[in-house]
Amino acid sequence: MQLTHRPRRLRRSPAIRRLVQETVLTVDDLIYPLFVMEGDGEPVAIPSMPGCFRYSLERLLLEIKTIAELGIPGIALFPVIPEHQKDHQGSESFNPDGLVQRTVRAIKSLVPNLLVFTDVALDPFTTHGHDGLVDDQGRILNDETVEVLVKMAVSQAQAGADFVAPSDMMDGRVGAIRAALDEAGYPEVGILAYSAKYASAYYGPFRDALDSAPKFGDKKTYQMNPANRREALKEIALDIHEGADIVMVKPALAYMDVIYQVKMHTDVPVAAYNVSGEYAMVKAAAQNGWIDEQKIVLETLTAMKRAGADLILTYHAVDVARWLQG
Ligand code: PBG
Repeated sequence: MQLTHRPRRLRRSPAIRRLVQETVLTVDDLIYPLFVMEGDGEPVAIPSMPGCFRYSLERLLLEIKTIAELGIPGIALFPVIPEHQKDHQGSESFNPDGLVQRTVRAIKSLVPNLLVFTDVALDPFTTHGHDGLVDDQGRILNDETVEVLVKMAVSQAQAGADFVAPSDMMDGRVGAIRAALDEAGYPEVGILAYSAKYASAYYGPFRDALDSAPKFGDKKTYQMNPANRREALKEIALDIHEGADIVMVKPALAYMDVIYQVKMHTDVPVAAYNVSGEYAMVKAAAQNGWIDEQKIVLETLTAMKRAGADLILTYHAVDVARWLQG
């Protein structure tokens, strides 16, 4: 048999495989999402997210040290707001002494170089659990919500956030937040926009973690239909036009084609959110001994990079950082 093409030559040894490898996952690509709660209690395990906890501020700062020492460049912060602080308008969201604002200040004074990305959306703060304000017929109000999101983003910038990350999917919020940040004297604070965020069942465990599941209806009038791809390109283009520094596709695993297309169409960094449900599936199968957790996670995150993600928000970040260190 005479073969001209033998692609296996480039797979013969570890050395040649390393030389021709196209995509490399590194700790530099990772953002670690963290849940902070009020009080000084012990960490509270999140049953549907094994290995993830709600931390008191005090306890979270210990985690922060570990994360920084591992070389993870940034964290994404999500608050667990006690029921008595929630209201219909989510007004706790822009309290200058609120849980998020206090936590950001504490993290930045402990480890100034660790990037802090704060979530801009009302769902942890509202009694109804929606990301926006709701009228008496249960409709999510767009422009009225944007006004609150703007106050929230500015208060996070005041507290020291490096990037604000609107995850709410209201129209026009990126532009409004950009203008308000500039006007308030924070032109250097960036925007990581959850631009193509789908109405996904993969967020279930996260809503357990924050106790933030919507009390009525669903999020389909603001989050995107999972069946759509071209619409993602439109959302991305709008957010970049409005001033987004980084755009995100969320979830990641079931949306690799979207990540790929977004990457082809844009010249800003593309983030992927390896969300709670993706994490929970891997953890559950690993706990049963059905898959090799480390190999599955490294393969999956490498594939997200191959698809086009420049950075990845993932609950696996701490484990991955350790594995990559060997
Ligand atoms: C809410 C928000 C959600 C997530 C991040 N921000 C849930 C939702 O939209 O209902 C999900 C993250 C995850 O599942 O890991 N603004």
